[in-house]
Amino acid sequence: MEKEAIIMSGNRFWMALWILTTCASSGLASEGTLTFSMAGKQMTQLSKKELRGKIKSQTEKFFDPRYGKVKSYHCLPIKEVMNLAYGPGWEKSSYTEAVLTALDGYASVTTAQKLTENGGCLAIEDTEFPNWEPVGRKRANPGPFYLSWLGESQSTENEYPWPYQLASINLVKFEDRYPEVVPNGAPKDSSAYRGYNIFKGQCMRCHAMNQQGGRIGPDLNAPQSITAYRSKDMIKAFVRQPSKFRYTEMPDHTHLSDSDLEDLYQYLLFKSKQPEKKPF
Ligand code: HEC
Repeated sequence: MEKEAIIMSGNRFWMALWILTTCASSGLASEGTLTFSMAGKQMTQLSKKELRGKIKSQTEKFFDPRYGKVKSYHCLPIKEVMNLAYGPGWEKSSYTEAVLTALDGYASVTTAQKLTENGGCLAIEDTEFPNWEPVGRKRANPGPFYLSWLGESQSTENEYPWPYQLASINLVKFEDRYPEVVPNGAPKDSSAYRGYNIFKGQCMRCHAMNQQGGRIGPDLNAPQSITAYRSKDMIKAFVRQPSKFRYTEMPDHTHLSDSDLEDLYQYLLFKSKQPEKKPF
């Protein structure tokens, strides 16, 4: 009997401890802090309370594709959050990519420029659900910070990130994030370098170079450069108007001039001499 009582109280003790710790940690999680870094180096950390104290929250109602319905949140405009964390004018730095990491470590990369736009809502509260409405197949709690977008065109199809359980924002240089895409050694005023800029802006969301970049279209440099098996004229004609050749996912680029196409070709040719590094 005595022994049983001891076991009981032991269980109770662990139970109490469990309740205490889970409540304490979920309390922390629902408060939440965001970490802001540059090139992995922490610049600042702001709690929800601090953010609220410095930025006026706005109630916004909009269609949330994650839920497939209209939702209402208390939002902090993401551009104001970025200005507060990194200081005004931060977007003019050479740190042009933003890595957004969630509590579970899942990271999405976006251009930092998107975080200067109107319409970016850092949701800090679901106005209808004090403890957030579970989202997705896993019924996850999207809090404490959920980045969402008001504009109809600010969709995941247009490369806008919608991370929930956002924990940190890290600004990095394009060259550090996608070193394989860079035409190493090409002078900034060369045709290849201009082509690189067009590639970054208009092609990379779908195409990779040496496996870095988009996955909708084929890799244009690995395992073989496109210039090794397609003629220059063929590549240029295809890029300008793929719809003339095939029913394809690739959009027409009839706005590109002859010299743009030449620059793109020179970039592809330049990168053909910088093939994928094999681990052996
Ligand atoms: C919305 C996505 C998308 C964008 C943007 C895009 N592409 Fe493509 N591209 C594709 C897909 C998908 C294919 C493969 C399907 C096909 O070949 O029809 C492809 C195929 C290609 C090919 C291979 C053609 C072949 O030989 O089979 C080249 C070269 C190419 N793209 C270059 C470019 C360049 C350069 C740009 C930027 C100016 C660009 N693409 C922008 C989706 C895209």
